[in-house]
Amino acid sequence: METLKILSIFGTRPEAIKMAPLVRTLKETPGVESRLCVTAQHREMLDQVLNLFNLVPQEDLNIMKDRQTLSGITCRALEGLEEIILKDKPHLVLVHGDTTTTFAASLAAYYQQVKVGHVEAGLRTFQKYSPFPEEMNRKLAGVLADFHFAPTRGAAQNLLGEGVDPQSIFVTGNTVIDALQTTVGEDHLFEEEKLNHLDYENQRVILVEAHRRENLGRPLEEICQALADLVDNFPDTCLVFPVHKNPAVRETVSRFLGDKDRVYLLEPLATGDFHNLMARSYLILTDSGGIQEEAPSLGKPVLVLREHTERPEAVERGTVRLVGRDRERVYRGGAQLLQDGEDYLSMARAVNPYGDGKASPRIRDILLHSFGLSSQLPPPFNP
Ligand code: UD1
Ligand code: UDP
Repeated sequence: METLKILSIFGTRPEAIKMAPLVRTLKETPGVESRLCVTAQHREMLDQVLNLFNLVPQEDLNIMKDRQTLSGITCRALEGLEEIILKDKPHLVLVHGDTTTTFAASLAAYYQQVKVGHVEAGLRTFQKYSPFPEEMNRKLAGVLADFHFAPTRGAAQNLLGEGVDPQSIFVTGNTVIDALQTTVGEDHLFEEEKLNHLDYENQRVILVEAHRRENLGRPLEEICQALADLVDNFPDTCLVFPVHKNPAVRETVSRFLGDKDRVYLLEPLATGDFHNLMARSYLILTDSGGIQEEAPSLGKPVLVLREHTERPEAVERGTVRLVGRDRERVYRGGAQLLQDGEDYLSMARAVNPYGDGKASPRIRDILLHSFGLSSQLPPPFNP
């Protein structure tokens, strides 16, 4: 083979952040023709990331609809991708993580008998509906994949436990840490002007991001009530909540937190802003997956607004705690860290169980080796 043709496919904000370093690495690799197709399951939130990392997709399916359904995303992505894979004839399709785009792209590649590389493979809660539908999306993509790039040894173990061929599993670290290393700096000037004027010295910033489908409705209402209680009871705090574009999230968040002092509801932040705001925050509450991986490497305690996590490594290292979604538990989790300095310090330690910033070159080298373009297989990520 003279040129290895790789088609990367993604559609949402987190996939874009985590695939950007890999797509850029592949683009600079002699012997590789790297192309990018976005489904645009997200629109504005995807474009923010494409702009930040200077990625210009060759194909854009533009499938997002307001209040889209899971079946709708799957059908539109599957149909659009068939045509692109047929036309492009890649040797390999790369997908990432656990979104509906990830599942549809893996299936579309399989239907054309094109090999699939699954980045961020093997994370599991073993709970079918939590996170929903991500647990199944990730599992289904895994069944279809030929290469499994597991970020951690635990994720690799999960795949081995499901009978996946050990020769096809590679422990690489998570590319999100590659991305994080390019964005955080002490002199960062925020694009979101309000963030340049917060009093970081005298006011403790509680940063929140929540959007999961299984939290929509009552659980998100309870979470918002707990957040309001925290701001009311701790006058030296302020709450910054960049609100996901999903209208179901926005309605609830603005209803419960819209008119409160010391609460800043913002548009989704440019990723550079979000990473630097994490670095300056006191505490982070989230149901997001990626933030659970990024915050520990910045030494920031995270309270996870979920019942289960597929990312147990930072929980085991003591920097992340699961606090669920009910008002009382979320409040108690937050209040504990705001009033108990020792407990806070025991959590606020920088740990890097998810990556060393070199996952992308590692994945590239594994692919070059697997397709006979290099004789050396890189050593696995070892935290
Ligand atoms: C999706 C992923 C989820 C991931 C999340 C990251 C699925 C099923 N879900 O969830 O795994 O954690 O992205 O953020 O794949 N919208 C906009 N503009 C945007 C993005 C979204 O208006 O840029 C609105 C639209 O009305 C859209 C809705 O948000 O219908 C929901 O988007 P969708 O991709 O279906 O679900 P997410 O909750 O964003
Ligand atoms: N993020 C961002 N702007 C925001 C909130 C989050 O760029 O306003 C980034 C965050 O740093 C992380 C990623 O988005 O890298 C997480 O994506 P999201 O929470 O949408 O999805 P999940 O990780 O839960 O799938």
